[in-house]
Amino acid sequence: MDHFLKAVKITDKVYWVGVIDWNLRNFHGYITEHGSTYNAFLVLDEKITLIDTVKAPFYDQMMARIRSVIDPEKIDYIVSNHSEMDHSGALPMAIRDIKPEKLFASPNGEKNLNAQLKLGMEVTVVKTGDSVSIGQNNLSFVQTQMLHWPDSMFTYLSDEKILFSQDAFGRHFASSKLFYDEHEQPIMEWEGEKYFANILMPYSKQLLKLLADFPKLNLDVTYIFPDHGPLLRRPEDIARTFELNKMWAEQKPVKRAVVLYDTMWHATQRMADSIADGISSTGVEVDEIAIQQSSRSQVATKLTDAGAIIAGSPTLNNNLLPSMADVLTYLRGLRPMNKIGFAFASYGWSGESLKQVNTYLSEMNVELTNEGLSCKYSPDMDMLEKCFEAGRELGLKLIAKVDSNQ
Ligand code: FEO
Repeated sequence: MDHFLKAVKITDKVYWVGVIDWNLRNFHGYITEHGSTYNAFLVLDEKITLIDTVKAPFYDQMMARIRSVIDPEKIDYIVSNHSEMDHSGALPMAIRDIKPEKLFASPNGEKNLNAQLKLGMEVTVVKTGDSVSIGQNNLSFVQTQMLHWPDSMFTYLSDEKILFSQDAFGRHFASSKLFYDEHEQPIMEWEGEKYFANILMPYSKQLLKLLADFPKLNLDVTYIFPDHGPLLRRPEDIARTFELNKMWAEQKPVKRAVVLYDTMWHATQRMADSIADGISSTGVEVDEIAIQQSSRSQVATKLTDAGAIIAGSPTLNNNLLPSMADVLTYLRGLRPMNKIGFAFASYGWSGESLKQVNTYLSEMNVELTNEGLSCKYSPDMDMLEKCFEAGRELGLKLIAKVDSNQ
């Protein structure tokens, strides 16, 4: 079935031909409450160029938007900035129907595309500093290895001054309003931070290096068009995006702690309450998060600049609760940096969860401020006082750590 969808003209020569995935709620583990977009762009120059494609099920929608402007067979070049399937899933069909003269990708892009998709066409490999004329404009390429895949790259369109930044500087946010400045800034910044935390945090060092090296490329950037979410066109939004990404990637701890737990019969919850109270008593801000009321992706976002993580779980059948195993496994993979913290637990008879939570925190390189607090059955006043004191001690250590870094 065909679609009656239109391309949106966004600059003199560039049209948005992407799609809106209103119903996306889980992007390989990243909980996306607001859906997403897969942005693709059509550049009308002497060599008509398609920048990125979309997830395979949305191929018809992308082609309908392209057809609203030109016959797709007139496309000469396709650029694949990133070979993850949300941008390349539709590529084999696009190649079959468009029959482009050239397909550009980074060296690792060539390997990934051939390994994943068996494209049946030669990939023209481009590297940082390479430039291709498409008429009035040049396409220039910047490899951004491990942001967030080995193949990732940016493409810069010279006369239009557009940086197509693929997965960097985006956000999972479905909206019919295409531009960043059409949305409320706090929502954009929260969604941007969530995107950083859930996608780019493990590659913070690579992001910092890119941001430091970027000015040396002498690219005059008027627009940043990422592959997900609203497009940036105001200088102040672009400057703020660079500033925020630098701040997030530095992961400098602030005086804020995340107390994360799940509970069976409220014993672990009462411990969490006392720990949070102890931390608050020092002036450190606390986010106390019951994982059943939140999501792993919200926790990751809250953790971006928090200086401490305190995690608690009861023992169920010789293990921590599955909800805590889920969120701690996810956080461990994101490799957060510069945290202090400790574990706490309650149990009835075996009590393995304390050791297991401690192991997770150690594997996240959390500097442990104590050996962990374990409570048999319900916490009595002595145990709650110990929780408060452990929280207070952590708060004081965090204050000293943050102050010594300033
Ligand atoms: Fe949006 Fe890494 O794909």
